[in-house]
Amino acid sequence: MKAIKSIPELREELRTARTNRTSVEFVPTMGAFHEGHLALMRAARKRGGLLVVSIFVNPIQFGPSEDFDTYPRDLDADLAKAADEGAEVVFAPTAAEMYPDGQISTRVEVGRLGEILEGAYRPGHFAGVATICAKLFNLVGPDRVYLGQKDAQQVAVLSQMVRDLNLPVELVVCPTVREPDGLAMSSRNRRLDPAGREAAAAIYSALRAAVREANAGETSAFKLVTVARRLLDRQPTVRLQYLEVVHPQTFQPVDQVSAQTLIVLAAHVGSVRLIDNCIVGTAQRPEREE
Ligand code: PAF
Repeated sequence: MKAIKSIPELREELRTARTNRTSVEFVPTMGAFHEGHLALMRAARKRGGLLVVSIFVNPIQFGPSEDFDTYPRDLDADLAKAADEGAEVVFAPTAAEMYPDGQISTRVEVGRLGEILEGAYRPGHFAGVATICAKLFNLVGPDRVYLGQKDAQQVAVLSQMVRDLNLPVELVVCPTVREPDGLAMSSRNRRLDPAGREAAAAIYSALRAAVREANAGETSAFKLVTVARRLLDRQPTVRLQYLEVVHPQTFQPVDQVSAQTLIVLAAHVGSVRLIDNCIVGTAQRPEREE
């Protein structure tokens, strides 16, 4: 496995490495790998192409009061895990490599979708995500990019970008990987204290309660939100930021659930901000709840 920090070195490596390979499979990450990241790498690996992983904590997707400085970083452990998963190239640039002027003038904006829910609570976040992904997709030239369903709005934003800019890339969305108590895996989980970690399980319990109601035939978004909110209200350590039933592509609120409708939430547990979502849409009933 090659660990690469510079853009010229990446271009050179990929120019030779992609020869005789059927495809380039790309997993973009911010590192601090957990099982969710490894599942993306395994899905990518199955395609049999050249597996490229990036590790970059992207400063422009963090707001001034967000956790950029404290975001977990563990490059040596990440490189070992990526090698175990069969990554052939890991691109782990510095911020100066990606943003040599210290900032960037050209940004990718996706309009309204980037400004609601996560975008409303994290202004500029999705422009930061779309911009770094546009740069990375240009550098790596992947056939497929692997993303987690946990970041559902990010998936919608990047799908919009790929469609609007005719990028020759397929996005592959992999299911959320969860801890045994249901908490969605996230690099931020390691910053929860023991009490917060226990309380955080209520997030998935609440979403599952809504999914169960939907599976039992409830189609009113208001009722599903009420069921989930009631459970979360019992857990004062979990401070809800938003909890909504939305269309899976536009993220606009819906009154009635239909195929693939999502229930999405963000909450603070202590100083850690967590997001999660489940599909409540009828297409999934009755066997699966995730
Ligand atoms: O999901 C993430 O880890 C990041 O938002 C991404 C897609 C790597 C862009 O920085």
